[in-house]
Amino acid sequence: MLSRTRIPLPLQVVLAAVAGVVSFAIARVVCTLARDDIHPIPFAAVLLAVVLLFARALGILYALPIGTAAILAYDWFYLPPLRELSEAAYTLLATFLGMAVIVGTVATVTSRRAVAAERARGDMAEVQASLRRLALLIAKGEAPARIFEAVTREVRDHLGSDTATLVRYELDGSTTELARAGLSAPVVPPELIRHVRENARAYRLDATAAGVPVVVNGRLWGMFAVGSAESQLPDDTEARMSDYTELVATAVADAQSRAELISSRARIVAAADEARRRIERDLHDGAQQRLVALALRLRTATHDDDKPGEVAEIGTDLMTVIDELRELSRGIHPAVLSDSGLRPALRALARRSPLPVEVDVRLAVRPPQPVEVGAYYVASEVLTNAVKHADATVVRIEVSEADDCLHLCVHDDGAGGADFAGGTGLLGLKDRTEALGGTLDVTSPPGAGTTVTARIPLQPHRGEPGGHGGEQQ
Ligand SMILES: Nc1ncnc2c1ncn2[C@@H]1O[C@H](COP(=O)(O)OP(=O)(O)OP(=O)(O)O)[C@@H](O)[C@H]1O
Ligand SMILES: [Mg+2]
Repeated sequence: MLSRTRIPLPLQVVLAAVAGVVSFAIARVVCTLARDDIHPIPFAAVLLAVVLLFARALGILYALPIGTAAILAYDWFYLPPLRELSEAAYTLLATFLGMAVIVGTVATVTSRRAVAAERARGDMAEVQASLRRLALLIAKGEAPARIFEAVTREVRDHLGSDTATLVRYELDGSTTELARAGLSAPVVPPELIRHVRENARAYRLDATAAGVPVVVNGRLWGMFAVGSAESQLPDDTEARMSDYTELVATAVADAQSRAELISSRARIVAAADEARRRIERDLHDGAQQRLVALALRLRTATHDDDKPGEVAEIGTDLMTVIDELRELSRGIHPAVLSDSGLRPALRALARRSPLPVEVDVRLAVRPPQPVEVGAYYVASEVLTNAVKHADATVVRIEVSEADDCLHLCVHDDGAGGADFAGGTGLLGLKDRTEALGGTLDVTSPPGAGTTVTARIPLQPHRGEPGGHGGEQQ
């Protein structure tokens, strides 16, 4: 329909008026020729049918002046009395045509607005649905790589562009392409990447390529690039992408804070373990050594002293203190764990326990030290809890390896009712396993015993994909 093309409206108004004049001239000739041969009613019907055809083909803006002019010609040159073309007739014709063009213009503008509003409503519903889908992915804690892929796909679908690409700006000045949608998506033009990076603002390289920055916590993080192979990108492309760039920013900020939380927890636990080891070393190298030396000196002095019995007694006491100190330092960080591994350490734990404890460790190789230490302390605290709270008759500790994780399961047949809110022990274990990227679950129905399961990844935990984790920004 001509009235819906990209021809500017003022030009279309002029064209409509011209169409009216041309229609009048043609209708005048046709009416004059048909006057004596065709009956007025079928002739009027044919005229109206022609006007209807124009209305369908060109729209109301053209149909109104064409129809008005045709009816005037029918009245003046077909139906008696016929009329001469005087100045008054021309004025009347101009007035009729003017009115037809004005009414046609108003009707066209109104219908265009209605169509635009309808389209905007449909567009908004589509955007809402697509944003909801993405927000669900983020809320589910989906991996950032999957979220980036999904957002990029939705951006392309939403804009109807041929391609959409999500690019991350690295600290060393390079860029990483995180996701790309579009069958034959070409590489994003380097000039577009550079412009957005330097100005942190949307940039249109040419009619077919545009880039919009993604800003995370006030810092430029990356950009979305969209491209169209043939047609021009719509004028509002950049504005329509803003919802999506904000969503990516939210997802990235979320992933970063999660990764930062995990690594800070890991640092705290590692620092605590390190502090234990240092105390152990200090006790061993410092106080213990000095006490041993003192004891030896006392023993030697026994032979010369006037009171050998008393000095010998002090020497024996000193040896007891040394033994206690050794035990204490081992309690702080079990030497058997670092020397021989989890199985002997857990067996030693079981031997010291007042409850019968079955230990079943099935590991092909020794896990990394933080995993071993983590699993040991989980088993130790859960065993202590069983002794303190469970009134159990037996405890079973199982360790195995599956899906790149160490699985530790400690079960007692006691009273049940373990609760994170009841103390700090279980909560501390949860923190410890989560700091290692793992999980801790407690099942403890009243009267049916307690099972604590820890799953600890054997590989170090990583945050965001691409190797930068939360540390990048
Ligand atoms: N194996 C178990 N059987 C029955 N109840 C348990 C068991 N383990 C824990 N509980 C209950 O859960 C609570 C929380 O345990 P948690 O280890 O967190 O604290 P706690 O042992 O009381 O103190 P601490 O902070 O010194 O460890 C306990 O107070 C106890 O009531
Ligand atoms: Mg406890």
